[in-house]
Amino acid sequence: MTESAPQAKYRKDYQSPTHTITDVNLTFDLNPERTRVTAISQVEQLSDQTELELDGEGIELVSVTVNGVAWQDYQQTESGLTLSNLPQKFELVIENDIAPAKNTALEGLYISDGAYCTQCEAEGFRRITYFLDRPDVLATYFTKVIADKAEFPYLLSNGNKVEHGDLDDGKHFVSWQDPHPKPSYLFALVAGDFDVLKDKYVTQSGRNVALEIFVDKGNLERAHHAMTSLVNSMKWDEERFGLEYDLDIYMIVAVDFFNMGAMENKGLNVFNSKFVLANEQTATDTDYLGIEAVIGHEYFHNWTGNRVTCRDWFQLSLKEGLTVFRDQEFSSDLGSRAVNRINNVRIIRGPQFAEDASPMSHPIRPEKVIEMNNFYTLTVYEKGSEVIRMMHTLLGESKFQAGMKLYFERHDGTAATCEDFVAAMEDASGVDLSQFRLWYSQSGTPTVTVTDRYDQDNQTYTLSVSQSTASTQDQSEKQPLHIPFDIELYAADGQAIELRCNGSKVANVLDITQANQEFVFDNVSEKPVPSMLREFSAPVKLNFEYSDEQLAFLMVHAQNEFAKWDAGQMLLAKYIKSNVVALSKGDKVHLPEMVIDAFRGVLLDSELEPAFIAEALSLPSFNEVSGWYETVDVDAVCDVIKGIKLILAEALQDELSAMYHMLKQAEYSVEHEAIGKRSLRNLCLQYLVHLAPFSGLAVEQYQTANNMTDTMAAMSAVNSASLKQRQAIMNDYSDKWSHDGLVMDKWFALQGTNPADDALDNLKACMQHKAFSLSNPNRTRSLVGSFLNMNPKRFHDKSGSGYQFAGEILAQLNESNPQVASRLIDPLLKFKKYDQERQSLIRTELEKLQQLDNLAKDLFEKVSKALN
Ligand code: TRP
Ligand code: ZN
Repeated sequence: MTESAPQAKYRKDYQSPTHTITDVNLTFDLNPERTRVTAISQVEQLSDQTELELDGEGIELVSVTVNGVAWQDYQQTESGLTLSNLPQKFELVIENDIAPAKNTALEGLYISDGAYCTQCEAEGFRRITYFLDRPDVLATYFTKVIADKAEFPYLLSNGNKVEHGDLDDGKHFVSWQDPHPKPSYLFALVAGDFDVLKDKYVTQSGRNVALEIFVDKGNLERAHHAMTSLVNSMKWDEERFGLEYDLDIYMIVAVDFFNMGAMENKGLNVFNSKFVLANEQTATDTDYLGIEAVIGHEYFHNWTGNRVTCRDWFQLSLKEGLTVFRDQEFSSDLGSRAVNRINNVRIIRGPQFAEDASPMSHPIRPEKVIEMNNFYTLTVYEKGSEVIRMMHTLLGESKFQAGMKLYFERHDGTAATCEDFVAAMEDASGVDLSQFRLWYSQSGTPTVTVTDRYDQDNQTYTLSVSQSTASTQDQSEKQPLHIPFDIELYAADGQAIELRCNGSKVANVLDITQANQEFVFDNVSEKPVPSMLREFSAPVKLNFEYSDEQLAFLMVHAQNEFAKWDAGQMLLAKYIKSNVVALSKGDKVHLPEMVIDAFRGVLLDSELEPAFIAEALSLPSFNEVSGWYETVDVDAVCDVIKGIKLILAEALQDELSAMYHMLKQAEYSVEHEAIGKRSLRNLCLQYLVHLAPFSGLAVEQYQTANNMTDTMAAMSAVNSASLKQRQAIMNDYSDKWSHDGLVMDKWFALQGTNPADDALDNLKACMQHKAFSLSNPNRTRSLVGSFLNMNPKRFHDKSGSGYQFAGEILAQLNESNPQVASRLIDPLLKFKKYDQERQSLIRTELEKLQQLDNLAKDLFEKVSKALN
């Protein structure tokens, strides 16, 4: 069969559904090769169209009945089933078969390590049965699951358990009733044998909620941090947002085969086991914090996503941007706000800005989509969260909360739009957001350029601000945005100067709304040092010609930690840029003494929390630096980053080594203070390992570590410095952990980022490791993903071997798991950023993919945009 090119859908073409389904009764008779699904739907016609077009993909129809009569009036199409001559209101019974054991795409019903599970977002329910698989059709679900009792003692679905019993042939069944109407993408089913961690939570209003976390047998003691995080999430959402849980049970199932992080199915979250399982021997501090954030994220979706869902998938940021904002606030309230902000900003300035500049650039509310799975992006999620955060900055916490309250009053139990959200914020606060709405429809990264002028005679200080957004592949014309611009002015003694305009006090957040604007501050008795875009108050690039002295001053005197960190990053950026130029002229990497002193000052500042110091001394990544250039000189950027690291290590070795020894902790704990100390100590190690006299430290730390954070930090130091003990240590770790894929992921990631010349050959050998499998997304992302994204030296090898390897893997994954393939391909899409030779090598690989006769929609969309 020759298939036509995949078709795009446009936001502007939204049409409300012709029919709705109010109730659905599902029966699953589970079998790996042939699972029978029976769906009894109560259907109502909403328009004058009597034809009903149901979505369905890769499923085998058995029978159709309308109001008890076998129905012949239907047609099967490539994308579903069209029924004709239907009554206004009817009961539709559809029987169909599916084959979960053959489902390697992990979308719909599939098998993960012997357990059945589902993933229905965005459009996976249509792989289970013919349905109105769109988020604006909300139904109540009754689900009966039948399976072998010995093999599958737990049969789970959404809502409350209402019936269970034994059947013939060793089978049993359990039925679930979910009282909350929901779209099909929130449906879930799980069947398997697990260990269960149980707890209870009593909500603010006194509802008893059973909490259950299902993990593979033997992993129970690794589920406690997830449970603690769940309880903390429930408490936090009550305290900060006044939102309570609404069912009697909340279940989380951890599975090893999962395309993303986790899924917020009503009452039955399915999680990638990476975001559930942790103990100090198997998980790093970063893993612990990731678990807290993702458990929170999925829990917070219960209100922002499930109670109020999306009208159509173009509105995805309505639930994702808002829920990311909520999970970031949760992590910030529980841990260090500054460190959380720094890490979130790194994601925006690195990979999100890169996405804006790529062929896949899109607004947080996309206009045009071929494959929805391609739009679960950093732009929709992370930039989406920044857009919510800007509204929070413009309104303040209490008006923002009033907006949330109004949003729920208006839209609880319905499918809403981004516009509905902004309107609620606007109506509840009285703040005009008309220009602000452009953030939803305009793609790309704005640049804000500032110059300043001090007038001694009039005691005024003027900031001249201009904004512009470069055109993007999806959108050539750009307009000025409403940008909240948080500033502070400092006098030479480090005191903040009160901000006054036209004789009256003004707030720190300026409203930039025009292409060019001037802000004149009066009563300014000396030329101040401006601190700008504080807290990264908008997702923009800031252009201002700071002197080294001004940045060093801000590193000491800025009133908040984020601004101090940012000043340090700007100072580093200046010298990374100038050294890239120097290197191309044959000069060596150089860093002035005063820059080194500024960082020494941060390192020795006892007022600062260790976790913050570690962030301040972390250099920007290769990917972030790449974003500063139209065309990146890969070799020069790698050499400069490495060179600066060596200079700092050399110059600060005494302080780093003293700090390293001072910060040693005897006992492991996941308290934030303990995490911070480990992170600074391991940062010290990362520098010191490059100096011969200290390289023994990393090996010693590997041998004596009593927790995975220190083990991994040691291994990663050994790996990045290519120490001679590397192979022995890698072997030791693999001997110890090869039975545990999740723990081996860290090892695979180190193989992927190995900077050595023969790294690619080694990596190919690792694909034969008994713990590796290309059918497992975590393994694939750890080994292959880290090579493509975090090993610039080897991935961009001039021979093209890295690109060719990527092409081969992508061609394989295109068949088995298109979603995973489509996430992996991103670094190749940005080929125009590299020199001519590299460009043409990458282009060749993309063209090979384009020629595949079974290219999935996912890769088709990205490859054709990139080659356009
Ligand atoms: N809604 C999920 C989240 O943000 C995202 C998700 C999980 C997803 N699995 C998916 C999206 C599969 C697309 C496909 O937490
Ligand atoms: Zn989400």
